[in-house]
Amino acid sequence: MSLREKIVQEIREGGPIPFSRYMEMCLYDREQGYYSRNVEQFGKAGDFYTSSDVHAVFGRLLARQFDEMWRVLGSPPQIEILELGPGRGLFARDVLDWSEKKFPEFFSALRYRLAERSSALRERLQATLERHFAAGNASLVMSSVAAERQKSAAHGVSRGLEGFSPLGFERILAPEVPLIVFANEFFDALPVEVISPQGQLRIAEKDGRFIETWVPPSSDDLEYLDRYSVHPEDGERVETAGIAQNYMTQLSASIQRGFLIAIDYGYTRAEQLAGRHRDTLMTYRQHSARPNPYEAPGEQDITAHVNFTALAAAAEQQGMQVQPLRTQSQFLMGIGEPNQFADAFEDCRLPQERAKVALQLKHLVTPAGLGESFHSLIASKAVAPDRVASLSGLSFGS
Ligand SMILES: C[S@@+](CC[C@H](N)C(=O)[O-])C[C@H]1O[C@@H](n2cnc3c(N)ncnc32)[C@H](O)[C@@H]1O
Repeated sequence: MSLREKIVQEIREGGPIPFSRYMEMCLYDREQGYYSRNVEQFGKAGDFYTSSDVHAVFGRLLARQFDEMWRVLGSPPQIEILELGPGRGLFARDVLDWSEKKFPEFFSALRYRLAERSSALRERLQATLERHFAAGNASLVMSSVAAERQKSAAHGVSRGLEGFSPLGFERILAPEVPLIVFANEFFDALPVEVISPQGQLRIAEKDGRFIETWVPPSSDDLEYLDRYSVHPEDGERVETAGIAQNYMTQLSASIQRGFLIAIDYGYTRAEQLAGRHRDTLMTYRQHSARPNPYEAPGEQDITAHVNFTALAAAAEQQGMQVQPLRTQSQFLMGIGEPNQFADAFEDCRLPQERAKVALQLKHLVTPAGLGESFHSLIASKAVAPDRVASLSGLSFGS
């Protein structure tokens, strides 16, 4: 049965489904979801580039920042980094390799954990990070989705498609061991609801074709719009991201002491009030944006830009101190400028190699590339404000 047929069957059995459920099935259906299939999603051969596809310097600069964070925390004997949605693990590899080479004291304290929902990608992580897994420096977190699935398999129950299940990771180190949560393009891959003046979007079907219908918005949707977003006007749509909120709440609550860095495409409520960032839902295939999320379910990426106002509020409600939002450009400039981005050029022997790396760096940092469209949300808990302010990533343009 194709994924389209599966979705149609679910609608026939239970009635029109929320858009978040449709997006969940398209991206994460166990066999045929976009991230579950054994095809290349990332880089040149795939559908989109992320910062780690551009150059290892992204991971290297973050390794430098993590080392500083570890020092700011008083160089504890152990520290955990939890990376959410690591994909195929290029970022983790760059961070671990660079830390081992340049920041050996930090590296010996570090336990790097990866929470990846897709089992196909978890297999790729095993391969990319084989050396670090074998040495015990890195390990996979079993998401509660995977844990549930294992439990069901053990009881001989077939659950078919899972609904949303919270991350629910177990910490392997004592809760007082400092934790740094890192997420690059994780929150934009979580299912959202779509709201228009007609209400909340539901997907129905007719003769196997998907049709948009609307129901009155839920009280959660209305509260989300009131607090963190705007009410759409005629002809407009906006998204509500309750799942992302839940994740941020759980993650922030699980940090006793430490940091959180979330980098993503996104916007603030103030920008929405100024009339921007309505209908940020996008689909991608082979590096081009496609207008129709109902075409080829499971074969194209579906994402929605991140509402940073909502995420920051969820973090603050759990006792995190949230820094003013920065562009990726400001964040990376702050880390890299003091040594003129030596981390990028270290392996270059020839002038042509330097020229190539300079271009890649420009793409990551400058407004014309990824530098301005991505933002970095940085938050801390139980760290003295003057120590937080000393981080190089926060120093540029402040
Ligand atoms: C857009 S990709 C980003 C990959 C990587 N961070 C990068 O920058 O290249 C989003 C990733 O998040 C993963 N993901 C989505 N929901 C997840 C969840 N609930 N728990 C763990 N991983 C999840 C997806 O499987 C995918 O690998």
